[in-house]
Amino acid sequence: MASRRKVLSVVGTRPNFMKTVPVVAALAARGDGIEHVLVHTGQHYDDAMSRVFFEELGVGEPDHMLDVGSGSHAQQTARVMERLEPLLLELEPDVVLVPGDVNSTMAAALVAAKLQIPVGHIEAGLRSFDRTMPEEVNRVVADAVSDLLFIHSPEARGNLLAEGAGESGIHYVGNTMIDTLVAMLPRIREQDSPGRHGLAPRGYLLVTLHRPALVDGPLLSDAIAQLAAVARELPVVFPCHPRTRAALDALGIDAAAAGIRLLDPIGYLEFMGLVDGAAGVLTDSGGIQEETTFLGVPCFTLRDNTERPVTVELGTNTLLGLAPERIAEVPALLGGERRPASVPLWDGEAGQRIAAVLAGAELPERPLPSRA
Ligand code: UD1
Repeated sequence: MASRRKVLSVVGTRPNFMKTVPVVAALAARGDGIEHVLVHTGQHYDDAMSRVFFEELGVGEPDHMLDVGSGSHAQQTARVMERLEPLLLELEPDVVLVPGDVNSTMAAALVAAKLQIPVGHIEAGLRSFDRTMPEEVNRVVADAVSDLLFIHSPEARGNLLAEGAGESGIHYVGNTMIDTLVAMLPRIREQDSPGRHGLAPRGYLLVTLHRPALVDGPLLSDAIAQLAAVARELPVVFPCHPRTRAALDALGIDAAAAGIRLLDPIGYLEFMGLVDGAAGVLTDSGGIQEETTFLGVPCFTLRDNTERPVTVELGTNTLLGLAPERIAEVPALLGGERRPASVPLWDGEAGQRIAAVLAGAELPERPLPSRA
C-alpha cells in the first residue's frame, strides 16, 4: 500500500461537485497522508452553476481550473483533453477520479488512461441502453478505461460484467450524491426554502428540464403548455438551466405569462429545500431521481428510460416517458404518505468506502509515457 498516494479528481458540472465532495472529505478525514488535488474543467462556468456549489459544500476553490466552457461535444471533450494532459504529466497523480457521466468525465478518463494513470469512476455501471443520450456514451467509455469501478446500485455490477469488466475492479460502495444530501440535510431544512419562496409545504410541483431530447426540440413547447395547465391547480416552480432558458427564448415562449414560476439556477441548499418541500418533482435529471427516492418525494421522470432503475423498483420514481401530455396525470398522483426509500448503501458513508479503497487498492505501477 502506498502511503503518500496522490489522488486527482476531475469535476466539470453541477452534479459532479456533489458526487466528489464526500470523497475529498473522507480522504482528508483518514489522516493517512493521501494527497488530493481537485481539477475543475469549467464545463459549467456561471457562478450559479458552479461557484455557489463549492462555497456551500465547503471545499473552496478547485486547485486547478481548465476553463473549457461551452461548445459542441467534440470541442468540449477535446478542450478538456488538451488542457488536462499537461497537468497530469506535471502532477503525476497515482489515480485519477472521475464522477458521473458528463463530457468532462469521459474526457478526463480518456486522458488519464492514455497516460496509463489508473482511473477510478464514481457511479460506474449505470446504463440507460440508449446511445442517443450523450451521457450513455460517456458512461460506456469512462467505464471501459477505468481500473476502479465504484458502483452504487446492484444492477451496475451485471452491466459492467456484461461489457467485459473484471469482477476485481468493481467496488459496491454506495451513493456519494446521497452522502452529500445526508450531510447537508439539517442545513437544507434550516433554510426553509419553500417558505422563502412563499410556497406551502407539499403545496407545489417542482420542475427541472434540461436534456437535449426534451429541450432542444418541439417537445419543450408541449411541456410548457401542459405545465401551464397544472399551474392553474397548484403552483409550478421551475428553476431553469441556461440551456432551457435559451431554448424558451429562442421559441419566444413566455412561461411566466403562462403562470409558471420560472427561477434562475439556484444553489444546492436552496434547491434541495425546494425538492424536500415539494408535493412532487417533474424532471429529466438523473441525480434528482435518486435524491427524491432518498427523501420519499414522488418523482415523475419525463424520459423513455432511466439508467437508475433502482429508483423505480425501490423508490418513488415513475417513468412517464418522453411524453409531455402525461404531465396532465401528475396532480392526481400527488399527496399520500411520504415514504423515504431504503436503498442499500445509500447511507451517507459511500465517500468513506471509496477513500478506503483508494488508500488500500493495489494500483498498477505504470511509468508515465513521454509526451510524444
Ligand atoms: C451537462 C451534462 C448533463 C448534466 C448537466 C448537469 C453533458 C453531455 N451533459 O449538461 O449530463 O445532466 O450538465 O447540469 O456533459 N451553459 C451556461 N452556463 C453554464 C453551463 C452551461 O450558460 O455554466 C449553457 C451553455 O449555453 C451551454 C449549455 O448551457 O452550451 C449546455 O451546457 P453543457 O455543459 O454543454 O451541458 P448541460 O446541458 O449543462
